[in-house]
Parts: sequence; structure tokens; C-alpha cells
Amino acid sequence: MLLEDRVALVTGAARGIGRAIAMALAAEGAHVGVIDILPEAQDTAEAVAATGRRSAAVRVDISDPAQVRDGVNEIRRELGDVQILVNNAGIVANIARLEKMRPDAWEREISVNLSGAFHMIQAVIGPMIEKRWGRIVNISSMAAAGGLHRQIGYAASKAGLLGLTKTVTLEHARNGITCNAVLPGMIGTDLVNAMPAEILQAAVGVTPARRIGDTEEVGHLVAFLASDRAAFINGAAIPVDGGISLNAASLGSRKEVRDQGTTERP
Ligand SMILES: NC(=O)c1ccc[n+]([C@@H]2O[C@H](COP(=O)([O-])OP(=O)(O)OC[C@H]3O[C@@H](n4cnc5c(N)ncnc54)[C@H](O)[C@@H]3O)[C@@H](O)[C@H]2O)c1
Repeated sequence: MLLEDRVALVTGAARGIGRAIAMALAAEGAHVGVIDILPEAQDTAEAVAATGRRSAAVRVDISDPAQVRDGVNEIRRELGDVQILVNNAGIVANIARLEKMRPDAWEREISVNLSGAFHMIQAVIGPMIEKRWGRIVNISSMAAAGGLHRQIGYAASKAGLLGLTKTVTLEHARNGITCNAVLPGMIGTDLVNAMPAEILQAAVGVTPARRIGDTEEVGHLVAFLASDRAAFINGAAIPVDGGISLNAASLGSRKEVRDQGTTERP
């Protein structure tokens, strides 16, 4: 196994991609802490425990540095120092063109998607530096590379994660710490699968692989990046997207995607 007895912490792991990442890390032998604002974080922790690994779940809003500090301390008491951090929690607070994007939605997307990852890294990196071993994986998005129609705050926050990732590498690669970003394309979580069929068809149509991805496919990459085998991969931004980033402009120009679930008032 790639991660025997490592201690991992995954944010936003109550459901979706985060839950799949938690399960992929556990399958490789890691003990997994789960942070989320949802009570279902406990379900993920129980699923991890059922694999024979240790687990713990804590309710934390990652945009609040005090909650992050307390939550990480609780995970540390339960499982030990965090050696692998996966910043997965992320939100879309508003879908609207720039002119109509609500400023509070912009602020919330930046504070959860970008500042949340910063607070988490600050909270866990001390022992990684001391032990000269650490793995940080930030779940960004193809929106970081190509922008995303009507999701300016989300795209900016996900692009910001790339700057965060690279700077952690510049400062801490010498301490045995790697920090990489993963850029998923359209991934089939329950929420994505529930989207209108024409939006899913549009995404499939511009994806060279001609399908959307599975949550496990993100989990497998994260487990590899968290392992000793990935020690020389650092500051990278790695797509898991069936090639859709090559056609991102085409996706953004599709009318059915432009119009998806808009919250704009006419
Ligand atoms: N699903 C996709 O197609 C896709 C594509 C690209 C990137 N992503 C990214 O992957 C990550 C996971 O996406 P998902 O599709 O599984 O989404 P999701 O909404 O199903 O899961 C996100 C999780 O984060 C948690 N969360 C939200 N705000 C939080 C906060 N303030 N503090 C703690 N937890 C919080 C939610 O409760 C939820 O459990 C996100 O960062 C998302 O931007 C997803």
C-alpha cells in the first residue's frame, strides 16, 4: 500500500469528490480525518473506519481561522499530526455575469475556496516542517486555467489556489513537503449527475474522452500525489479532465452551458 499508517486530513469530505478522496487514501492504508460543515462528515469517517483505518470527523467552516485551528487540534488529538492535507472543500455561491455577480457571493467564494486552503495549510504545516515530510494537494478546477462563464469568483478563487500551491512549493520543497494542484474537469458527483441533461451532454460533447469523470479517478491521483512515489512532483497543476481543458473555450461558448442554472434576475 502507498500510504500505510500515514495520517491524512481531507476537507469537504462529507460527500462528492472529497468523500471519494478520503476512501482512496484509506484504501492505500492512511488514517483519515474528515472536515466539513455538514453532519455527513461522520458517515465518511464511519466508512473509513469500516476499512480498518482510524478516522475522525469534525464540523468546521474552513473560512474561519479559529474553527480551523480548533478542528485541526481535535484531529491531531484523535489521529496524530497531519502528514497529508487535501484541500478539497469548495463552493459556487452565485452563477451570474460579472455585472450581476453579487459581491457577497464573490467574497464567500474567495473566503472558502482560497482563504480556507490557506488557513488549513497554516494550521498543519508546522509538524510537516519539523518532520521534513508532508503532502499538500489542493483541488482546483479546469476553471483556473480557462476561466468559467458566469462563475468569475469561483474561477478566480481556483486560479488563486495555483499561486498558493506554487508558493508553498517554493518555500517548503526543501523541507520534504510537496504541494500540488489537481484540476478536475466535469466529475460525476450526485450534484453534477442531477444537472439538466443538456448541460451534461454539452460537457460530454467537448470532452475528448466523451464522458464525464468518476470521483474515484480524482481520488486515485490524489493518493498517488500523497505517496513517497510522487516526492519529486512539486508545484504542479495536473488536470483530471478527459482532455476537456483543450476545448475549454468551446465549452464556455456553448449556449446551454452559458445559460446553466443562472441566478441572474432578468
Ligand atoms: N464536481 C465537479 O465536476 C468539479 C469540477 C472541478 C472542481 N471541483 C472541485 O472539487 C471539490 C469538490 O467538489 P464536489 O463536486 O465534490 O462538491 P460538493 O459540493 O459535492 O462537495 C463539497 C463539500 O465541501 C463542503 N464545504 C463547503 N463549504 C465548506 C466550508 N466552508 N467548510 C468546510 N466544508 C465546506 C460541503 O459541505 C461539501 O461536503 C470542490 O473544490 C470543487 O470546486 C469539482
